[in-house]
Amino acid sequence: MSELQPRKDLLDIESLELPEIEYVLANAAPFKQLFQRSVKKVPTLRGKTVLNLFYEPSTRTSSSFEVAANRMSADVTNFAVSSSSVVKGESLLDTIETLQAMRSDYIVIRHQAAGVPQIVARHTGASVVNAGDGYHAHPTQALLDAMTFREVFPDFQGRRIVIVGDILHSRVARSTSTLFHKLGVEVAVLGPGTLVPEGRHEFMQRLRSWEDVFDWKPDAVYLLRVQLERQEGAFFPSIAEYHRMYGMNTERLVRMRQTGAYLMHPGPVNRGVEITDEAMGYERSLVNTQVENGIAVRMAVLHWLKPETD
Ligand code: CP
Repeated sequence: MSELQPRKDLLDIESLELPEIEYVLANAAPFKQLFQRSVKKVPTLRGKTVLNLFYEPSTRTSSSFEVAANRMSADVTNFAVSSSSVVKGESLLDTIETLQAMRSDYIVIRHQAAGVPQIVARHTGASVVNAGDGYHAHPTQALLDAMTFREVFPDFQGRRIVIVGDILHSRVARSTSTLFHKLGVEVAVLGPGTLVPEGRHEFMQRLRSWEDVFDWKPDAVYLLRVQLERQEGAFFPSIAEYHRMYGMNTERLVRMRQTGAYLMHPGPVNRGVEITDEAMGYERSLVNTQVENGIAVRMAVLHWLKPETD
């Protein structure tokens, strides 16, 4: 594995330098090879502790960090926010101070408010990994997306990806588009006008219809989950209308097959909203590979970060 100066925290994609991104992606590959062995564990983090602190629901991210830490022989604590003193009104900083006294080496945090991982990182010597904060960032999702895309297209430069859906509320769209742009992939977006903020990322081309998408010839179509829990206003007339306009349906799947484009989705999926059952079985779907690569990338991230407790 190549060498690079470690950092304490991973909070977003914007602050990452290209060699750091390449380092994590390069190191994720050998960690993935480990999964083929009968013994999938390495002693890299033996004696270290990883605290999973999820203030928002998660399946993929929380479980893959747990699996990643276990495979590196770390001790893992999953802090159950819903049954903790947080529900009695304990402040975030008081919670962090309490957890700090337990001397965790790594804190993996997801929070509904943007910026919370940054605050936590300033108040602890542990390495903090942002596992998703509000609409802001989801850096490990972006890294696993890049690893998955690169496995299919080792010649990353000049490839094309279109992100479809709720760009406005999506930390995945923000982090993944920024990372792909840094790596030389062309990025376009498609979605309802109310959910695609004009001019937020000047590097992203705005497409207006699926016809535009297929004319643009993307190498991958990345469907976003419609975040029904974040829709405070009426951003589109109805779920049925969203599905008709932007969902991956039978007709669009035929076009996908003709062009050979791959399909990606960060999960969890809303079947019948952004994707049909039929499209979930598409032979060029990378969704399961994204989940598998999530473990390898998170192992590479934990391997790279250096807590002050070291
Ligand atoms: N992609 C993602 O963040 O999924 P979870 O919400 O299940 O962690």
